[in-house]
Amino acid sequence: MGLEFVLDSPIVRTFVADVLEAIATSAGPAQACETIRPRFADLLADPDWLPAVYRAPAPESGMGGGIGQWLLCRADDGSMSLFSLVVPPGSQTPIHDHLAWGLVGLYRGTQDEEIYTRRDGELELVERRALVPGDFYVLIPPRDDIHRVRTTSAETSVSIHLLTNDTGCVWRHAYDPVSGEAAPFRSGYVNVACDDEPTTTA
Ligand SMILES: [Fe+2]
Repeated sequence: MGLEFVLDSPIVRTFVADVLEAIATSAGPAQACETIRPRFADLLADPDWLPAVYRAPAPESGMGGGIGQWLLCRADDGSMSLFSLVVPPGSQTPIHDHLAWGLVGLYRGTQDEEIYTRRDGELELVERRALVPGDFYVLIPPRDDIHRVRTTSAETSVSIHLLTNDTGCVWRHAYDPVSGEAAPFRSGYVNVACDDEPTTTA
């Protein structure tokens, strides 16, 4: 398996190496996440490792609302991606799923997050949480897999996602908040193309 480092720095390389080792030596996602937890907390607590470009919103993004999904690193077999998600003040993501386990945490700004579950084809709001920098959670589908985040701070919010798929490039789902209907959804990344789309210049 090869790795594509868009942000190639010692901190990202060390983090990704630790993640891959945790996955390789764990019995399953829950155990791997426990091992990754302290490393992920360190990443969220370090103010310097993420360059300004990966904290910037993106006017023409697949998520809409100026929301930028910036790839930092991914595995070329689609088994892992590390990216930042930048949500401008007042913007919110569609209700969406991820279809992979991993860790998601807030790096800058504040967010309100709503977590949904599907019951008999309908969306049900199961939890609402207010996130501050350093907050993170382990996501193991189907638990916590469907959510929507909205920035509540005057500054853009930046969250860091480590997930075990190529999240920006896989087809997942966006959900209609009223009907609960699922629609095919692919967010893309602002800064790299997916295999079957033309190369972007952003
Ligand atoms: Fe998400």
